[in-house]
Amino acid sequence: MSSLKIIVGPASTGLGEKVCSLAGLEKIRFSFKQFPDGELYVRLLDDVTGVDALIIQSLSPPQERNLMLLLQLISAFKTNGGREASIVIPYMAYARQDKRFLPGEPVSTHLVAKLIEAAGADRVALVEVHSDAAAKGFRNSVQIEVTRSFAEYYSRSGFEKAYVVAPDRNATPRASRLAEAIGGEVGWIEKTRNKETGFVSSIEGELNPAGRKTILIDDIISTGGTIIEAIRLLRSKNASEISVACVHGIFVGNAYERIMEAGASSILSSDTVETRYSNISVAGDIVRTLREKGWL
Ligand code: R5P
Repeated sequence: MSSLKIIVGPASTGLGEKVCSLAGLEKIRFSFKQFPDGELYVRLLDDVTGVDALIIQSLSPPQERNLMLLLQLISAFKTNGGREASIVIPYMAYARQDKRFLPGEPVSTHLVAKLIEAAGADRVALVEVHSDAAAKGFRNSVQIEVTRSFAEYYSRSGFEKAYVVAPDRNATPRASRLAEAIGGEVGWIEKTRNKETGFVSSIEGELNPAGRKTILIDDIISTGGTIIEAIRLLRSKNASEISVACVHGIFVGNAYERIMEAGASSILSSDTVETRYSNISVAGDIVRTLREKGWL
């Protein structure tokens, strides 16, 4: 009988509970607190001797706190008799710093990966990580795609055969997967971002949205700048209705409201980053993929 159990990290309580019940795993209990000076404390409350664990914890904001909690959970597990630690990271922080864009920069995502491995992670599953370069920071990782759950949502929401647009050429593979799953076509926008100021500008790429229901899909929405620029371009080309989708919805400040004001008809945002805007769960994608990979 498998001794696999699950630790549901504080940043992924909703998603973790769903994974736990879909996979039928017993939870390892723990307590955590913050000392008055800000340091974090974690303690496992169950004996983990000889146990294998799935540890699920998003590195959503506040990233440093959630990373430190993950590191402590892994270390507590491995140094108290736990066996194999399989980590599920719904949102991988720092994944956009996946190379040295300017001289003098670190490759921050590889540093985060090294810390997680140093804590004792044996293997890592990343949900729609920003790039393959980011995933390569880990020695042993698998990637989880969420195309199926997003396609099911759009197929039952009147967007079957919709036109699917990537707001950036690099985001085209994700848009293509969704387009294929709902029987639609794909387009993409050419985006440029000033590396010093972060200012985004979008110019036409391969785009033909006139009169069509359009899904604009990206991996991350942070400030909303990318998506708002893309909506402006799509509207200038007479897209009939624009639904925005993202896997990781961070929505800094009033980004959500600004995207709606820019002309989105709806925003789909998953529970890899748990916010009040999360309206679709990727638990099914996680459990299915981990079964396929033999983790469950
Ligand atoms: C960048 O390469 C990512 O894929 C997203 O497009 C980006 O992080 C979105 O950021 P923001 O919402 O601040 O434009």
